[in-house]
Amino acid sequence: MLVLGIETSCDETAASLCRTDTDTPWKVAALSSVVASQIEEHKSYGGVVPEIAARAHVEAIAPVIAEALTATPERPGLIAVTAGPGLAGSLIVGMSAAKALAWAWDVPLTAVNHIEAHAYAPVLEGTMPSHPFLALVVSGGHTLLAEVRSPDDMEILGQTLDDALGEAYDKVAKFLGLSYPGGPVIDSLAREGDAGAIRFPRAMMRSGDFNFSLSGLKTAVIRHVADVEARGADLPPVADIVASFQAAALEPIVAKSIAAALDRGLSDLVAGGGVACNTALRASLRRACDEAGVRLVLAPGSLCTDNAAMVAALGAIRHAAGHTSGLDADIHPNLRLGSPMPGDRLART
Ligand code: KG4
Ligand code: ZN
Repeated sequence: MLVLGIETSCDETAASLCRTDTDTPWKVAALSSVVASQIEEHKSYGGVVPEIAARAHVEAIAPVIAEALTATPERPGLIAVTAGPGLAGSLIVGMSAAKALAWAWDVPLTAVNHIEAHAYAPVLEGTMPSHPFLALVVSGGHTLLAEVRSPDDMEILGQTLDDALGEAYDKVAKFLGLSYPGGPVIDSLAREGDAGAIRFPRAMMRSGDFNFSLSGLKTAVIRHVADVEARGADLPPVADIVASFQAAALEPIVAKSIAAALDRGLSDLVAGGGVACNTALRASLRRACDEAGVRLVLAPGSLCTDNAAMVAALGAIRHAAGHTSGLDADIHPNLRLGSPMPGDRLART
C-alpha cells in the first residue's frame, strides 16, 4: 500500500510517500521525504514563533505535498497525519490538508502521535527493534524514556521536569550568541572544546527515578559566564563552555537510559528526536550500550529530526492494526506518548 504522511507539528512542513506491505507493515520504504524548514523565518528570534510557524505552514503545505506525490503517479491508499503533540496553529494546517485529501480521494485517515513516530523511525531503515523496547526521545519539545510494548501499549518511565534537551541546547546557544538552532552548532563546536574545562552540575543523577531536569544547567552556564565577567577574568573559549555544557547535559540522559533498560529488562534501546543526531550522544550511547549488553537502534540523522516518513510509517503500522480516524479527526496539542488517540476507530483487534 502507498501511504502519504503529513507532518506540521512545529516548524517543519513535511510530506512523504511510503510504500508498505499490508501483511508486514513493519516493512516500509520511503519513496519521497520532503521537508520544508522554517529555520530562516525563526532565526532572528532564536526560537520558534508559533504565529510565524502557522503562516509558513499554510504557504508551504500544498507545494510540499505536491512534491512528495511526484515520486509515483499511483494514488495513496492511506493518509497518516500528526495529530499532536505540537503547536495548535501548526498542527491544524497538516490536519486540514490530510482531511481534505482523504475526503477528495476517498481513502482512510490515520492520526499519529508525533513522539511515538520518533520512536518507530528506524523501521524506515529496515531496523525493527524487538518489542518490548526502550525509547529515548530527545527533541526540541520532548525528553522522555518510554517502554514500548507495542504501537498500542507504551508507558512513560521518566521525562524532563522542565526544559527539553534540545531546548537547553538552543537556549545555551542563544545566550552565547551562537546561531539558531543551537543543537547542531554546539555539536560541531564542542568537538573542538575541552569537555572537562568547567564542571557543570549533572542534574538528578541520584534521584532514584528516570526523570531529568535541564533548566538548572542552563542557569549554571549563564551564572558561570557572569561570575567570570564580574571577576574581570578571561572567559574560557566558547568551544570549552559548550563542550562542558554538553557533557553535563548528556551524562544523565545516557546513564538513565541504561538504568531504565536494565531495570525493565529491555534488550533494545531506540533513540530518536532531533537531539539523537548529536554525535557525542550517539557515541556515548553506543559505548554505554556495548558495556551494558543493550542493542542500540539509531536511525540516520535525517530520520531523527522532524520528517513525514516516520509519520507515514507509524500510520501504516497503526492502520494495519485496525486504527482509522475518520474525517472528524482533530488535533491534540498536549497529546502524551501512550495515550489513546481521541476519536480513533478500531476496525479489528
Ligand atoms: O525532533 P526535532 O526536529 O523537532 C522537535 O520535535 O522538537 O528536534 C529539534 C531539536 C532542536 O532543539 C535542535 O537544536 C536539536 O533538535 N538538534 C540537535 C542536533 N540536531 C538537532 N541537538 C544537538 N545536536 C544536534 N546535532
Ligand atoms: Zn520531533
